[in-house]
Amino acid sequence: MAAHPSYDVTVIDHPLVRVKLSAIRSVDTSLAGFREGITELATLMTFEVTRSLQTRECTIQTPLAGYAGSRLARPIILAPILRAGLGMLEGMLKVLSGAGVAHIGLFRNEETRMPESYYFKAPPGLAQADVIVADPMLATGGSAAAAITQLKEHGALSIRYMCLVSCPPGIERLQAVHPDVPIFTAAIDPELNDRAYIVPGLGDAGDRFFGT
Ligand code: PRP
Ligand code: URA
Repeated sequence: MAAHPSYDVTVIDHPLVRVKLSAIRSVDTSLAGFREGITELATLMTFEVTRSLQTRECTIQTPLAGYAGSRLARPIILAPILRAGLGMLEGMLKVLSGAGVAHIGLFRNEETRMPESYYFKAPPGLAQADVIVADPMLATGGSAAAAITQLKEHGALSIRYMCLVSCPPGIERLQAVHPDVPIFTAAIDPELNDRAYIVPGLGDAGDRFFGT
């Protein structure tokens, strides 16, 4: 895990993350391989995204004695941005099985490049929770910024954002709109193409995950 020299983001550059991200970037990776890779990457990244979560001491009883154990200080709410963010949910839940899930439905209008909202449903208690927003791609940053704005409007105070592939324009926009939200990414790619796709990127994450 490393702070990026130019951007205030955390790049999760663990060897397994680099290898698995390379695999899902490949145009030759099958639908099954892409899904499996996204799930595994989401699990691996969740370890780093949650590293700074606070814990509280709790007394438990082992079969032999009392023990001063740990529990998370606050509930967790995972917030995948539909559709592609849903692909990361299973991997996150593998290590956060008790988390609530907020669904944020957004799609990027491919003409205006602006996000359009079609669904929002969150569990109660956003203000008391640590919220983790997940989406494989941070391109222009419009979808991430809009999702986080919606979460804040519904009370969320502690928000982390995680993605697999990001790029400078998306990072700059998200940090300008939500400077309080830490960004975790597996890679910062150089640029957007004229259709606002990340290059080299991995293509359209939602289409590749759902086979559309
Ligand atoms: C993709 C991706 C992000 C968004 C990134 O979703 O999963 O949500 O685009 O682009 P941005 O940073 O320029 O906003 P898309 O809108 O294609 O919807 P989908 O997940 O339903 O395919
Ligand atoms: N959405 C994607 O799925 N991929 C990109 O590169 C940009 C937006």
